[in-house]
Amino acid sequence: MAVEKAQKDVSMSALTGKVTAPGDKSISHRALIFGALAEGETKIRGLLEGEDVLRTAGALRALGVEIEREKEVWRVAGGKLSAPEKPLYLGNSGTGARLIMGLLAGGGLAASLDGDLSLRSRPMGRVLEPLEMMGASAISQDGRLPVSIVPNGQLKGIEYRSPVASAQVKSAVLIAGLFASGVTTFYEPAPTRDHTERMLAAFGASIDVSDATGGGRVVTFKGGQRLSATEIIVPGDPSSAAFLAAAALIMPGSDITIENVLVNPHRTGFYNTLEDMGADVTFENERVSGGEPIADVRVRHSKLNGVNVPPERAASMIDEYPILSVVASFAKGETRFAGVGELRVKESDRLASMKTGLRACGVNVETGDDWMRVTGGAPRGGACVATHNDHRIAMSFLTMGLATKEPVTVDDTRMIATSFPDFAETIAMLGGNIRQSI
Ligand code: S3P
Repeated sequence: MAVEKAQKDVSMSALTGKVTAPGDKSISHRALIFGALAEGETKIRGLLEGEDVLRTAGALRALGVEIEREKEVWRVAGGKLSAPEKPLYLGNSGTGARLIMGLLAGGGLAASLDGDLSLRSRPMGRVLEPLEMMGASAISQDGRLPVSIVPNGQLKGIEYRSPVASAQVKSAVLIAGLFASGVTTFYEPAPTRDHTERMLAAFGASIDVSDATGGGRVVTFKGGQRLSATEIIVPGDPSSAAFLAAAALIMPGSDITIENVLVNPHRTGFYNTLEDMGADVTFENERVSGGEPIADVRVRHSKLNGVNVPPERAASMIDEYPILSVVASFAKGETRFAGVGELRVKESDRLASMKTGLRACGVNVETGDDWMRVTGGAPRGGACVATHNDHRIAMSFLTMGLATKEPVTVDDTRMIATSFPDFAETIAMLGGNIRQSI
């Protein structure tokens, strides 16, 4: 979508048909990064060609990695990294910035990293702290971008108990651990997405994962292992598919199938919550592709009830709370979720962004430090919502506007290209209408 504002058309129609979601963002970043670290040529199919992932590709190219696209295959010639001539710019991408910090620190590469205003406001200390414990040196103000990594000799493996359940922190430490002497052990307080662990194994490394006492997980990994190039097929992103699923649920008469969606259990909390709400959502044709479980997700319009979402589900649906709060505004009764303080440090403060936008659309919402309560009904819409440069806020409100009584407008759509460049076109393929108003 090239222009800034978008809204739904006034005509409402059921959504029907089969579509695919764009490639998974988390897996796409990792495929490029591990491809860059491995010996030989890695081939990637289905890579998300969204701005965030292209920023990671750009940063790796600046580090001397040859990355080319030939028809639908991305080729990464790995194994040779050198310090960049200019600062690396990661745009809006937290995953790109944090994982590349692990790579720079581990590889002893001097570089500065920067990002857009949203990324500059997000905490990087959570990654710098364990990297510094491993022996890395970093310069930043207040643990925010811009950050400079200063080479400081070989890192050493550490035992790190992460205070936050964050796959980005875990992945940065494991990537640095690849270059470190000795063993790196990472304890996470709750299990988070495990694509780094799966991908290290796919690139030939040996990694040990086990349950930790108290519900968390511990990952143990020996430094100095060599990675060998491989072929990766990136499945559809369940976080992007979530907007399509939500649209079908709230539009009467809808029946859609989203094909080839990643259904890794660390990513399906949103779909489990929809089931709890009474949604007709089924995973069909479940299979394994490229080491990850995938399925075709069929969603039919459903009458929904409010639920309490358990806090221990947060890590498995952390990016889906904005769209869940939209779905909840169409359900009968209250939906509550707690233990979601991490939403305050995403591309925007998502609890605040959703509260303000939903209230402007006539929805009764309350929030606290780390919780939200939405009272469902038949939302009016009729507002122009501030997106704060956050793709998931923009797509949540455009989805909402498909089914509200009055159109919903968002103030900016450009950042949707970070994760779902064809969002409006995909909704149109299903029969929905999101249109530019400028
Ligand atoms: C991601 C992890 C999550 C998620 C982000 C992608 C990843 O962030 O919100 O969109 O690819 O590792 P945190 O690790 O900060 O929770």
